[in-house]
Amino acid sequence: MRKKIVAGNWKMNCNLDETKTLLKEIKDKTNTLNNNTQLIVAPAFTNLLTAAEFLKETNIKVAAQNVHAEEKGAFTGEISVDMLSSVGVKTVILGHSERRKYFGETKPLLNKKVNTALRHGFEVIFCVGESLEEREKNNHFKVIEEQLDKSLFYIKKETWKKIVIAYEPVWAIGTGKTASAKQAQEMHAFIRELIAQKYDQATADGVSILYGGSVKPENSTELFAQKDVDGGLIGGAALNAESFIKIANSF
Ligand code: PGA
Repeated sequence: MRKKIVAGNWKMNCNLDETKTLLKEIKDKTNTLNNNTQLIVAPAFTNLLTAAEFLKETNIKVAAQNVHAEEKGAFTGEISVDMLSSVGVKTVILGHSERRKYFGETKPLLNKKVNTALRHGFEVIFCVGESLEEREKNNHFKVIEEQLDKSLFYIKKETWKKIVIAYEPVWAIGTGKTASAKQAQEMHAFIRELIAQKYDQATADGVSILYGGSVKPENSTELFAQKDVDGGLIGGAALNAESFIKIANSF
């Protein structure tokens, strides 16, 4: 059975006090969870230690939103895998479209980051997604295949157990436009098939593939009902404990 996952990508939101409040609200509501969905929260770097300590005795994992590809050194302003490990964080989101778009993260760079993270025993939530233009030109399958091929499809078969994929069509992120359940299922099935071709069916069947892009309690049930949709990577709606837990309860 693949793991069901609902992960909250808090992006550049919530200072320390707001982080503490939101974490407490989420933690308090976990007794209303009606399934064994893995919850993950990804606050800002400055709040990771607080989050990791606060959630230590719970089943909620804490993820970083990014990490540097190098282990250490003269990279002013950057954060290393060892720094994350040392505050109790062993999960990282890589390849988010905002990182690709605003910070120029390329497929080869992401390849390096994935490699570094896996080498240090991290679980990686690897994001892929096409732009509206790419979809309108009917290039979306090719774009996703290339993103996976150039950044992820070189890893060893054994390390797939450390990978979660998040399909996030760029046109659906923060726009209120969600991919239809049919569009999500179609892409998730395509991604799983690619993994089966490159590796094998058992590996493909074991990978959780999350959908991301304007997921909210109003659409999560239909999305999560799709055969190959194993949960969601949630932005805006993850900043509200009630909607985050409602989403987790919609399997
Ligand atoms: P959104 O963001 O839910 O606000 O669209 C999702 C994401 O960027 O991970």
